[in-house]
Amino acid sequence: MAQYETHEYDVLVIGAGGAGLRAAIEASSAGVSVGLVCKSLLGKAHTVMAEGGIAAALANVDERDGWKVHFADTMRGGQYLNNWRMAELHAKEAPERVRELEGWGALFDRTDDGRILQRNFGGHQFPRLAHVGDRTGLEMIRALQDHGIHQGVDVHMECTVVALTKDGDRVSGAFGYEREKGRFKMFPAKAIVLATGGIGRAYKITSNSWEYTGDGHALAYHAGAELIDMEFVQFHPTGMVWPPSVQGILVTEGVRGEGGILKNGEGRRFMFDDIPELYRLQTADNEEEGWRYTQGDREARRPPELLTRDHVARCIVREVQEGRGSPHGGVFLDIAWIREKLPNAAEHIRRKLPSMYHQFKELANIDITEEPMEVGPTTHYAMGGVRVDSDSQMTCVPGLFSAGECGAGLHGANRLGGNSLSDLLVFGKRAGEYAAQFAKENDSVLLDEDQVRSIADWALKPLENQAGGGGGNPYQVQYDLQEIMQKLVGIARSEEGISSALSEIVGLRQRSEGVAAIGNREYNSGWHTALDLYNLLTSAEAIALAALERKASIGAHSRDDYPDKEEPDTKKYNTVIRKGGDGEMLVSREEISEMRGDLQKIIEEIG
Ligand code: FUM
Repeated sequence: MAQYETHEYDVLVIGAGGAGLRAAIEASSAGVSVGLVCKSLLGKAHTVMAEGGIAAALANVDERDGWKVHFADTMRGGQYLNNWRMAELHAKEAPERVRELEGWGALFDRTDDGRILQRNFGGHQFPRLAHVGDRTGLEMIRALQDHGIHQGVDVHMECTVVALTKDGDRVSGAFGYEREKGRFKMFPAKAIVLATGGIGRAYKITSNSWEYTGDGHALAYHAGAELIDMEFVQFHPTGMVWPPSVQGILVTEGVRGEGGILKNGEGRRFMFDDIPELYRLQTADNEEEGWRYTQGDREARRPPELLTRDHVARCIVREVQEGRGSPHGGVFLDIAWIREKLPNAAEHIRRKLPSMYHQFKELANIDITEEPMEVGPTTHYAMGGVRVDSDSQMTCVPGLFSAGECGAGLHGANRLGGNSLSDLLVFGKRAGEYAAQFAKENDSVLLDEDQVRSIADWALKPLENQAGGGGGNPYQVQYDLQEIMQKLVGIARSEEGISSALSEIVGLRQRSEGVAAIGNREYNSGWHTALDLYNLLTSAEAIALAALERKASIGAHSRDDYPDKEEPDTKKYNTVIRKGGDGEMLVSREEISEMRGDLQKIIEEIG
């Protein structure tokens, strides 16, 4: 039997981005023991890629804003497939979470009269994003970390969890390995919060770094939890496209929030060509005024670049496919044009978008205060994920919770920019609170040595495959998966493409079982990749299966063979993925529950 260390907690949080940190802080302040495991170094999380801001209806810049408008915007952005209760909690609680973060030391940009400044972002009716230049996610992580380390949370850095254990129906712990020495660690826990982020590494072009291999999605699924709406993968419209080594790196929506416009290779501002019906309540589509709409007695003006991400990404793809792209297969994003309007534009751009300025200067030799950027869609975010109870964030597995990107429900078919950071704060807090409560109310778990032994044996297999010879290369399997997902389950999908992806995934799974990791357990990234494949393939299969099931084009899911938003005679539904009795992945549909009357009224009046 392989050796392992044991670290027991009341609450174990897996993942140390915004949701994980917020959950750990909350659980710890409820007086239970808390362990926090992160795959990378503390502070390195995809949260930092939400650069442009935190969405919260503080109404500091436009006093007409409020939770009801934020709720309506979130629901409309998600095409009303959202969990409406989560959307309500999120809109109501986000302002308090932002003020709390400020109280913990986060330094936001300010209005002239000293309040938290808010900027425009796609799909939000009013300037709503509290921000710190274009480094908001980074500031959020810094503030949470500074606060969290004084709470007595035990942190296990560079530790990857590969499986959950169960005690009957209940979750009983997590088993992982330390990246540095390859030593095994077992974490028995009364309650576990999954906050592992997304699945971006299943795709070739992504803003996600190496950690985002769908770990929480797969851990939950294999432990008996359900996944919902996995077909909805967000392709952020603006990632870098050139040079090839930096393809996919995020170009914040904050650039468009600060006035950046999109032009095609012919120099035309193409976003005026197609304003979706849902947003076209009243248009005054000339370039001076921008795109204008009124809602009830509200009126706002928005440039079409600030339509929702799903729509902007599709418009960019259309320009490229129809031969009107930029030289390297994207379009142009121009913020330098504001020089026409603002005397000190260069300084303004450098102050509001410092990371973008440096990113393009260093990586592409472009001065964004003078020249346009070349951009194209990049896989950014999973709207789908682990199904949770809207208030407590618990899954259907007792003691297992999920929050942040790997939990699902809030965003429906498409997430609005900035709603990720507020999601992390609102539901991270709730997950921590309810996990602590669960731990207090329930007895300790029993650890089953047989389960632990079989996980350890499985985890060592890629190293043993090497001894037998003939094992495949784990990197090649991941590379092949990324190519398949990008091409066949990307922005434009069809039955033929998705079905072919599903059969390719079967083949990749067989190959993944035989992959060999050369070397020993110390800092062996081949071994780590071999183990990640299990989660990547589980997540990829779930995405493809759900994408095949939804025969419509709605939000981030676009089917060439089913261009309509609705299926005939079909009510709105979520797709649900479960593990069947003999281990096969099953997909079904579940009708969305009727919205509470008072919320419905808000949608009728505002949405
Ligand atoms: O573009 C951005 O700054 C990303 C924000 C987000 O994903 O919420």
